[in-house]
Amino acid sequence: MTGVPDITLNNGVTIPQLGFGVFQIPPEDTKEATALALDVGYRHIDTAQMYGNEAGVGEAVRASGLDRSEVFITSKLDNGAHAHDDALAAFDKTLATLDLDYLDLFLIHWPMPTVSDYAETWKAMEAMYAGGRVRAIGVSNFQTNHLNRLAAECTVIPAVNQIEIHPYLTNETVRSFCAEHGIAVEAWSPIAQGGVLEDPTITAIAERVGRTSAQVTLRWHLQRGDIVFPKSVTESRVRENFALFDFELGDDDVAAISALNKDERTGPDPDVFGS
Ligand SMILES: NC(=O)c1ccc[n+]([C@@H]2O[C@H](COP(=O)([O-])OP(=O)(O)OC[C@H]3O[C@@H](n4cnc5c(N)ncnc54)[C@H](OP(=O)(O)O)[C@@H]3O)[C@@H](O)[C@H]2O)c1
Repeated sequence: MTGVPDITLNNGVTIPQLGFGVFQIPPEDTKEATALALDVGYRHIDTAQMYGNEAGVGEAVRASGLDRSEVFITSKLDNGAHAHDDALAAFDKTLATLDLDYLDLFLIHWPMPTVSDYAETWKAMEAMYAGGRVRAIGVSNFQTNHLNRLAAECTVIPAVNQIEIHPYLTNETVRSFCAEHGIAVEAWSPIAQGGVLEDPTITAIAERVGRTSAQVTLRWHLQRGDIVFPKSVTESRVRENFALFDFELGDDDVAAISALNKDERTGPDPDVFGS
């Protein structure tokens, strides 16, 4: 028992609401970082082909002694592999690199709307799903217009949409669309890579509830119902980011943090990224 709630995706598969992200962890450090996270109790790891560190994730999971079914593993299709056959080959490569028989969740990493046809890519994702070696498929960085196109032209509704969300970018339009259409929301860069931790509203709440700014921010995400996977290579922070289930924020605190939104991205704009 880890105390982490599960979220049920639209195909019945369950995903731990709190996981561990490995973006920007160098490949040679990823096995150790992931092993620490598993030791602390994380049972959901978020990697991507683009991060170059899938091998370390697979090694850590196999070395952990945990049953494969106890760890939820996500990876993401690289931006250069959107063509149908390239996507199928890239998925095979991900399984080979992770050295696993199946993946829990595979996402289109970015829609790349100006340079590729993401609806055709989604049809390749549907073929992977039908093949039975991935338990759920989803998208990342999809805006409502991209999701509408998938709904019109494709068969499977994405199980998740992984998008940038933190107190300075609450991304309500895409979140509401996903809620209406049964698509679970995953919040990437949940603490804006540290950029929200000095915010006076957040530090004041943290001081009052006796927690850190990172814990308050992550708790805000969880209470809004989103899935998060903060990244850290610092042991104390890996533990701190997991200690979120013995306190609660009041509705007024959740609302005050949501009101910090200024539509400020730390990452690229999905409508133009790739141009
Ligand atoms: N789909 C996408 O396009 C996309 C884009 C970006 C990220 N992601 C996913 O989302 C995950 C999380 O996002 P992210 O890695 O960009 O950013 P993040 O989790 O918001 O922040 C990570 C940064 O904050 C620091 N940090 C972590 N915990 C802290 C704490 N308790 N106190 C103070 N500082 C802390 C880390 O430093 P140290 O490591 O030095 O401790 C690191 O510099 C990624 O790892 C990846 O899995 C997806």
